[in-house]
Amino acid sequence: MTHLSENSKRLQEHTTVAFQLQELGNLYNEEPKVYLFHLPSGRTDQDASRSQTAFHQIADFCARSNEESTICILTTPPDVARLQPYLESSLRFQLWVAIKTSTPSINTQDGQLQARHVALLVLTRYQGSLRHTKTRIKYSYCPACGKTTKDYGGKKHLYHEYGTLVSDVWRDVEIDGSGDICPIVDRLCDLFGVEPYTALEVIDLTKCADLVPKPETPAALEQRALFQLPKVVPPSRSQLVNADCLQVLKSMPDNSVDFCFADPPYNLEKKYDGYNDALELREYFAWCDEWLSELARVLKPGRTCAILNIPLWAIRHYQHLASILKYQAWIVWDALGFPVRMIMPSHYSILCFSKGEPRPLPGLHDAERTLLERESLSPLAEFFCSRSSCISERRKNGISDRGELTDLWYDIHRLKHNSRRVDHPCQLPPTLMHRLISLFTNPGEVVLDCFNGAGTSTLTAQQLGRGYIGIELSKQYHELALRRHEELSQGIDPFGKKDTIPTAKNSPVPRLPKQAYQVSKKVLQLDVKRIAQQLGRLPTRAQVAALSKYPIEYFDNYFVSWGEVCAAARTTGMSELPLDKPQETQLALFANDFSQATDYALPVSRTLRTNEASHAKNYMNTGRKVSVTVTDRAKATINGKSYHVVPNPDGGWDVIKSGADRASRHFERKSDAVKYGRRVSQNQRSELIIHNADRTIH
Ligand SMILES: C[S@@+](CC[C@H](N)C(=O)[O-])C[C@H]1O[C@@H](n2cnc3c(N)ncnc32)[C@H](O)[C@@H]1O
Repeated sequence: MTHLSENSKRLQEHTTVAFQLQELGNLYNEEPKVYLFHLPSGRTDQDASRSQTAFHQIADFCARSNEESTICILTTPPDVARLQPYLESSLRFQLWVAIKTSTPSINTQDGQLQARHVALLVLTRYQGSLRHTKTRIKYSYCPACGKTTKDYGGKKHLYHEYGTLVSDVWRDVEIDGSGDICPIVDRLCDLFGVEPYTALEVIDLTKCADLVPKPETPAALEQRALFQLPKVVPPSRSQLVNADCLQVLKSMPDNSVDFCFADPPYNLEKKYDGYNDALELREYFAWCDEWLSELARVLKPGRTCAILNIPLWAIRHYQHLASILKYQAWIVWDALGFPVRMIMPSHYSILCFSKGEPRPLPGLHDAERTLLERESLSPLAEFFCSRSSCISERRKNGISDRGELTDLWYDIHRLKHNSRRVDHPCQLPPTLMHRLISLFTNPGEVVLDCFNGAGTSTLTAQQLGRGYIGIELSKQYHELALRRHEELSQGIDPFGKKDTIPTAKNSPVPRLPKQAYQVSKKVLQLDVKRIAQQLGRLPTRAQVAALSKYPIEYFDNYFVSWGEVCAAARTTGMSELPLDKPQETQLALFANDFSQATDYALPVSRTLRTNEASHAKNYMNTGRKVSVTVTDRAKATINGKSYHVVPNPDGGWDVIKSGADRASRHFERKSDAVKYGRRVSQNQRSELIIHNADRTIH
């Protein structure tokens, strides 16, 4: 188990397999329940668009469930986007959780991003915030240095010893190709182990005739073939325009842009210069539909329009975009937020639609690329940390820490430090735009951002040798972007650290003036923790004034809230090293397996550590066809559960289900084997103890 729920009255799981949606009638129950609808895997936008009747039936069932019920729906992103409108009249949207999959969740064509997540839509019959247990996810550890993936620096006293609060991206568990959702069911049983629930009703619709994916119809295929390429306007000169985007877009020719990007105001009451970010919802979406239609018009055929927004608004954009463009990908950007709520909403959706059939993505082609493009397109492999000392050790030792680029992006952080921010309330990190532009365009092509803000998109486009058009309503932001472009032209990094503190704020938390601390904040917080332990509860200001070793003015002046003063007292504190396991013993290789391989045998007299390139990988460098058959399996304990494992040719282990015969591997190409090796969760690797090895190698 990789989670820990406080005071959970674990739910009883009960699964019903429904072969027809009509059978839902038999499941009707008046008690408050948590339901999990599990839809068939691989459902495409086309499947979703043909499921109106099925969606009505599901919505009907949900609307008749008890008014305290919680409904979870596990399916592909396009399915969620098309199903949600049927549910919104009787259910309250609570969360979109993105869950990693170990195999593609939807089959995409070659040259497109692999779909490697599914959506868990969480809705309730009740209003108000979601009721659930306080649940933490176990820390993951860097496979190279063995410390926690995230560097907690001087804040370890503020975190829990077990892990961080659960967020809306689950990468510590994954769904495999067989559709086994046990880890999800397991988590939901604990997460919703609160009154009034006693049971999790899993409604397994994976074999439901009304929902199983159907092959694309010949008519749709024909329509694709008939798609005519209209005349394409050559790229115009790069420019920044200070005006209303609708006005400018309407003046632009059809089919003239290679990549349209929008990071619109989210209507969440941000304090922008000259724009009211609190429109009535209907008005907001009517406006969005207008500029979305314009983006679709100016986009060249085969090219992509990518819209960034919070998941719920992305669902709404989907409905409009699907009527004018073709669904291409749903990128989940896990932006690594702070644990401010019980379930941290930490991800954004980047909705990608193409005009007609999408061209193979430029960034996924074998092509000559600049270093910046290469770096942007090869994400940090999962769970590697970003401590500079570890990064340089990895470089020194030739450890590859790069992973596969899929539609689940977890290695790009929001701009949190003021030193990297300019005077705009919600700048995007340049690394996000570097990746999007490198992926969707070729050098020399034109990128359009109709909400250009501080110029992140146009600046990164210029860095990457792309043309750009940036439209921004505010004169202040427009001029800021112009200045930054000027800097870039003079060879100054517009994204470099600054000495000035921006006045625009990206969070509602008040900012304190820069000051010299007589005593560090950590020391003060730990003193409050001591007082709390003495009192048996969190102290009041008066109690701290009476019992602390330090003057109360320090507490008043150094912290933004009393919550921050008491932050260490509310938790246990953590260590960046695993608490329970000696590092060395974790990754001893099971010798027997490799010595029985048919095509080659590994030398057995050495310990294989995580930070060494494996023998198997070296062997493949010889270019020979590789055939590895493992005739025996090892047993491993992972987080207290027993699994079978087989070593894979990339030097990791593949965890297989008991009884599953997946011990034989054949690879024609090294890259395939490497890809396969990456599938092994780094998290599981670092937890691996092999306990029935005949000979552990030393
Ligand atoms: C979320 S911010 C974009 C930030 C940008 N991605 C960056 O990294 O700096 C949205 C921007 O849209 C601008 N905006 C709002 N309404 C607009 C309109 N009608 N036309 C053009 N820009 C608009 C706002 O002033 C704001 O700068």
